[in-house]
Amino acid sequence: MTLTSSSSRTTSALPPADDGAGGDVRRIGVDIGGTAIKYAVVDPVNGVTVGSLRRILTPNPATPDAVVAALGAALAELSTGPDGLDPRSPVGVGVPGIIDRGITRSAAHLDDSWLGMHAGRLLSTGLGRDVAVLNDADAAGLAEARFGAARGVGGTVLMITLGTGIGSALFHDGELLPNTELGHVDLDGRDVDGWAGASARVAEGLDWPTYTDRLQRYLDHLELLVSPDLIVLGGGISERHQHFLPHLELRARIVPAQLRNAAGIIGTARQAYLGRYVMH
Ligand code: BGC
Repeated sequence: MTLTSSSSRTTSALPPADDGAGGDVRRIGVDIGGTAIKYAVVDPVNGVTVGSLRRILTPNPATPDAVVAALGAALAELSTGPDGLDPRSPVGVGVPGIIDRGITRSAAHLDDSWLGMHAGRLLSTGLGRDVAVLNDADAAGLAEARFGAARGVGGTVLMITLGTGIGSALFHDGELLPNTELGHVDLDGRDVDGWAGASARVAEGLDWPTYTDRLQRYLDHLELLVSPDLIVLGGGISERHQHFLPHLELRARIVPAQLRNAAGIIGTARQAYLGRYVMH
């Protein structure tokens, strides 16, 4: 089943973006999450999704083969109709784990069989397309740095995504230091990923003040570690930032992600367009 929803930066009737030589620059952006796989056609030049943001449930168990099969079927649908994409149109894929030159080194919310696997090669072979593959939070951060809340911001910028897990993207003067995994710092003897993520709030039925206290404790610790000038909070929960953001007290400026839950998708599609992190 494909569920669709709109995002804050969606254009519905945009013609295929042109590369100046008559080529179609649209790319597909994919964000593999522990719960759902979100994807959309993206105009990577302007940083907007074209049409709706779609989602399918992440297969359970989320083995590499099951994910590639589900994704292949979903992406094929984007090539039907008059405005359909070339079936070999490149794809950017964000993965919730460490991606070191295409190889998955951690996968906290996917099946363990991803570990050590060359995700880039697996996805490009399985989908029959060039695939840019990188950490999901890094992808979201790259999109916010280019098109969103961190655009043009110098110094140290830290993006934190609060979802099924906690992701991080760390920049200095616009340069990304990939795979920082600051969602897995140890705080009071526990991994914050399962304690301060959006899913912990739901699973433990926390009210907003209690959840905000956890975020405050976590972000205080991050300030100690990396002294950010700007913190961008993303993930689905960032759409409800009014419940916690005004109550957080930090040295750094803290703002919600502007691209909301489309950031990861726009970020991966942009890397596919730029030819970075790409497996052929
Ligand atoms: C993973 C990160 C990922 C984050 C958000 C964490 O559990 O370790 O790699 O970025 O979840 O999906």
